[in-house]
Amino acid sequence: MSPSSPTPFGAILLAAGKGTRMRSALPKVLHEIAGRPMLGHAIAAARQAGAAEILLVTSPEQDDVRAYADSLKGALTHCIQQEQLGTGDAVAAAFDAAKKHQRLVVMFGDTPLMRAEVLAGLALHTAELAVLGFEPEDPAAYGRIVMQGETPTQIIEFKDADAATRKIGLCNGGAMALSQAALAKYLPQLKNDNAQGEYYLPDLVGLAAQDGATTGLVMAKPEDTMGVDSRAGQAKAEGLMQRRLRQSFLEAGVGMQDPDSVFLSYDTQIDADVVLEPHVKINPGVRIASGTIIKAFTHLEGVDIGKDAQIGPYARLRPGTQVGDEAKIGNFVETKKAIVGKGAKISHLSYIGDAELGHEVNIGAGTITCNYDGYNKHVTKIGAGAFIGSNSSLIAPVQIGKGAYLGSGSAISKDVPDDALVVTRARVREIAGWGAKFRNSNSKKDK
Ligand code: UD1
Ligand code: MG
Repeated sequence: MSPSSPTPFGAILLAAGKGTRMRSALPKVLHEIAGRPMLGHAIAAARQAGAAEILLVTSPEQDDVRAYADSLKGALTHCIQQEQLGTGDAVAAAFDAAKKHQRLVVMFGDTPLMRAEVLAGLALHTAELAVLGFEPEDPAAYGRIVMQGETPTQIIEFKDADAATRKIGLCNGGAMALSQAALAKYLPQLKNDNAQGEYYLPDLVGLAAQDGATTGLVMAKPEDTMGVDSRAGQAKAEGLMQRRLRQSFLEAGVGMQDPDSVFLSYDTQIDADVVLEPHVKINPGVRIASGTIIKAFTHLEGVDIGKDAQIGPYARLRPGTQVGDEAKIGNFVETKKAIVGKGAKISHLSYIGDAELGHEVNIGAGTITCNYDGYNKHVTKIGAGAFIGSNSSLIAPVQIGKGAYLGSGSAISKDVPDDALVVTRARVREIAGWGAKFRNSNSKKDK
C-alpha cells in the first residue's frame, strides 16, 4: 500500500480479450513496450498505486499470460473468464475473489501508459463509483460519458450512441473505481441488450446514477489511457513511452545529443553526467554510473558499467557484462558474461565471452576468447596488467597470469604464468631476393 492510499484496494485487471487485431501468435498483453510486456506495465502501475492484490482476468487458453504474471513478485489471484462476453462479464469472473476488498479499481491489460498516479486518484475518489475521463483529439469509437453538472450519469458505447451523443468529446478511459457495495449491487443487473450483444462494464454508471449512488469523474491525459489494439498502436505507445523515459533521464542530468534516437528500457538506471550519443539502444537490465560515455550505435543488455568508462562506438555488451571504472571498450567489440577490471582496455574488434579481466588489462585488436566447444562454455581469466597482443586466440579454459605478455597472433591453450612472455607464432623465414627471382621467371612466360 502506498502511503497516500488510506484503504488498500483490489485491482481487477482485464486481459481476457483475444487481441485479434495484433495479428500475432503471442497474446496481446505479452507484447512489449520498452522491453516489458504490456501486462507488466499494468501490474507495476497497479502495485505502485497501492493495490493490495491483483485479480487478473484471463481466458482459459492463456496459460502463458498467467505464467508471466506469476513470474512477477506480489499478490495476484487468477480469475478465468470462460467466454469473452464483454468487459462487464470479465469483471463478473472476478466477482467472488473481489469480495475481500472494500474498494476496487478495474483496469485494462492493454493500456501500458497508464500511470500509477492516475489509478491512485481513482482509488481515492470518494464517490461510490468513479470513472476515468479523457478528451482525445479524435473521440473515434470510445464510449461517451454523459454528465449532469459535475457527475457522470451514463456511459454510452459508440455503437449504441445517436448522433447527438457521438458529438460528446468526453470519453471513457476504461478504468473505473467502485465500492464493494456498488459492485455487489449493480454488476448482477448488467444486461447485454445492446449493439454488440455484450455485457458492458460502463453500464454500471447508469445503474448507479439511477439508483441515487454517488458517481465521480477523474480526468486523465489521452496518453495515459491509450489502448494498444494493433501493431501500429504498439509502435505509437512505444514512441510515447520512450519520450517519457528520455525526458526523465534528461531531467536527471543524463546528456543526449539526439534523444529521439536513443532507446531505453523500463528498468534502465543511469546516473547524472552519463552521456548517451545518438543511436544507442539499451535493452533491459542496464545500469550506468556517472561520468561514463556511451558512444554512437552501441547496444547494451544486462550490463553494469562503472564510472568514467568509455563504451563504443559500435560496441555490443551482452548479459552478464560488468565493466569497471575507467575501462574502455571500443568499436566492434562484443562482450558476454565478461568482468572487465578497472581501467582495462578492449579497444577494437574483439569477442570477450565468459571471461574475467583484472585491472589495467590491455586486449589487442582482434582478440577472441574461444569459449565454446560446441557443448560447454569455458572461462578465460586474465590477471591484472596483462597485455594480450593483437589477433590472439585464448582457448578456454585458460588463465593468463598477472603482468604477462602474449605475442601477437598467439593461440593460447595452456595457462601462462605471471610476468611471462608467451608467443606461439611460427618463426619468420627470410629468403633474400626471392621476389625479384619469382617475377623474373614468370615474366618470360606467355600471359
Ligand atoms: C472499452 C469501453 C469503452 C472505452 C474504451 C477505452 C466497454 C464496453 N467499453 O472499449 O467505453 O472508451 O474501453 O479504451 O467496456 N476484455 C476481457 N473480456 C472481454 C472483453 C474485454 O477481458 O470479454 C478486456 C480486454 O482484454 C481489454 C479490456 O477488457 O484489456 C477492454 O476491452 P476492449 O474490447 O478493448 O474494449 P473497448 O472496445 O476498447
Ligand atoms: Mg480497447
